[in-house]
Amino acid sequence: MVTKRLLVKTWGCQMNVYDSERMAEVLAPLGFSSTTTPEDADMVILNTCHIREKAAEKLFSELGRLRVVKQARADRGLPMVLAVAGCVAQAEGAEIAARAPYVDIVLGPQTIHRLPEMVARAGRAGGLVLDTEFPAESKFDLLPGARSPQGVAAFLTVQEGCDKFCAFCVVPYTRGAEASRPAAAVLAEARGMVAQGTREITLLGQNVNAYHGEGAGSLAVLLRQLAEIPGLARLRYSTSHPRDMADDLIAAHGDLASLMPMLHLPVQSGSDRVLAAMNRGHTADDYRRLVDRLRAARPDLGLSSDFIVGHPGETDADHAATLSLVREIGFAGAYSFKYSPRAGTPAARAPFQVDESVGDARLRELQALLLDRQLAFNAAHVGSVFEVLVTGAGRHPGQVAGRSPWLQAVHAEAPDSDPADLAGRVIRMRAIGASANSLSCVIEDLAHQPREKHAA
Ligand code: 5AD
Ligand code: SF4
Repeated sequence: MVTKRLLVKTWGCQMNVYDSERMAEVLAPLGFSSTTTPEDADMVILNTCHIREKAAEKLFSELGRLRVVKQARADRGLPMVLAVAGCVAQAEGAEIAARAPYVDIVLGPQTIHRLPEMVARAGRAGGLVLDTEFPAESKFDLLPGARSPQGVAAFLTVQEGCDKFCAFCVVPYTRGAEASRPAAAVLAEARGMVAQGTREITLLGQNVNAYHGEGAGSLAVLLRQLAEIPGLARLRYSTSHPRDMADDLIAAHGDLASLMPMLHLPVQSGSDRVLAAMNRGHTADDYRRLVDRLRAARPDLGLSSDFIVGHPGETDADHAATLSLVREIGFAGAYSFKYSPRAGTPAARAPFQVDESVGDARLRELQALLLDRQLAFNAAHVGSVFEVLVTGAGRHPGQVAGRSPWLQAVHAEAPDSDPADLAGRVIRMRAIGASANSLSCVIEDLAHQPREKHAA
């Protein structure tokens, strides 16, 4: 088969990273292997994200650059299929067709399994192939069962879409209604990943704890089923909504050893007025109580969150309420954003938009506090011993890299060991230093570490 080169550029969340990998996998049988150089690419896919500000402008400037490369290739008699995927494609397909007529394919997140057919159609007919439907069939049923090796720590999408309609958010419009994959399909994919060396799986979904797939019915049951897979040492899930933190899921944090003690649970704001305007469906106290229950189940649980400052109507007092919630909960880390309007969402039409400069100042203040909390969380681990999943070689010779149960990046000296031998092993280490972004560790007597059995 003639080898063709594929370049996939990904923006946004881990679900997009997952989709990008799957797109590369469905195109592999057509002879595509990957490249990072646009000039060499027979096909380029831009997998876009709509959640961040100026997403469309960023896309159009990237497309402008690729247009030149595409033309230069055409001058040499070489084609380049240009595809735009992801949430910007879903939301702005018509705009892309009008402003960038040299784009060959526009596809939404739900139609990635149809990509080979789209490539064939683009080759035959020329002109734009646009497929941003929410098809009746699930992409997951039609994507290949076997995946390429994913590495020691990998993602697995189990749920997509969202029915929460937070006032600021485009996701319910671009990713569609909440939908869950059947447990059997998730388990088969997970077993395949473990057979190829994956030891830690993070279950992904826009609203992953709303999971209700056939054969499990809840995320807690799915986690319990996954925990039975031999060789799968660690489980995580992301991203969760406070309203869907069911009792059985909280209980799972207490009694499932492989479920790691770190939970991403966005709160967005600490003010009840703003939470109501955001249509979050919970108060700050609801969140506090939930955290208390989670910590009762799993005392060493670390929490991370997302925050938006400057949501329409947010006052100084509301912002102060967010800062005090952060101080109380002591987040291990967080993403924080300045509100920016998204066309079509209720918040974009709300009166009392907050001044840009006020939003900037609030963001700086919040981020300084969050960084301080993150450093304190990491520093609190210095001196303690915990298990680290080794992911590979560290940045310096003789070092290994890995991740702690709390998702902290870890590096440790292992001068007499080949990092390739240690990758995939869960090794006890002691933290001897901390920064805001990582822990420096020493290995606790490697000779006496159990070598866990890998699945065949
Ligand atoms: N403006 C700013 N931040 C936003 N997010 C989602 N929509 C917006 C918006 N319009 C943030 C939320 C969400 C995270 C993924 O992105 O905090 O949890
Ligand atoms: Fe967006 Fe809210 Fe759904 Fe999260 S829960 S994806 S913020 S609508």
